[in-house]
Amino acid sequence: MEIKIEDLKVLFSEEQLQKRIKELAQEMNEFYKGEEVVAICVLKGAVMFAVDLVKHLEMPLKMEFIRLSSYGSSTSTSGKVNAVDIKLPNLNGKNVLIIEDIVDTGLTAKFLIDFMGVNFNVKSLKFCSLLDKKITRKVDIEPDYYGFEVDDKFVVGYGLDYDGYYRNLRYIGYKEL
Ligand code: IMP
Ligand code: MG
Repeated sequence: MEIKIEDLKVLFSEEQLQKRIKELAQEMNEFYKGEEVVAICVLKGAVMFAVDLVKHLEMPLKMEFIRLSSYGSSTSTSGKVNAVDIKLPNLNGKNVLIIEDIVDTGLTAKFLIDFMGVNFNVKSLKFCSLLDKKITRKVDIEPDYYGFEVDDKFVVGYGLDYDGYYRNLRYIGYKEL
């Protein structure tokens, strides 16, 4: 499959994304009221979502960035998660909020949740993903917060890439097959 910009159809517009992100932030502001949070952005895909989301969060907050990769080819997952860079401060006793772009097979989410459990004794752990591809799930995992459900399409834009491209789009698009 090759994806050209002119083939892209809008799945979620910039307005839809920003409205939903504000709603998610509101839910989080209520849940974490008075608590401090460590928000962990999973690079590279979650970068746009994470920066827009945290701008609406009102609790004392620190940001961390980790880099993982799981995609073997441009559009299909390898089924193996690689921790490219996962250096983190001590998260014992912290409220940890993991921010992802999309949960597909769920392997990345499971890897991260297990990683937190093995390495830290956190106060709370929440997993937030902008998109949730529920029907392609291979492990039994659900994000605590998600923006939109998507069916089995390969989507790009707003952080999500095809072969490294299209992360800079302000909307999320897909190629009609
Ligand atoms: P999982 O481990 O299979 O849940 O995959 C998670 C990762 O796969 C995400 O962090 C994305 O980087 C990538 N991914 C899954 N589906 C898509 C897609 O439709 N477009 C772009 N990247 C995707
Ligand atoms: Mg990716």
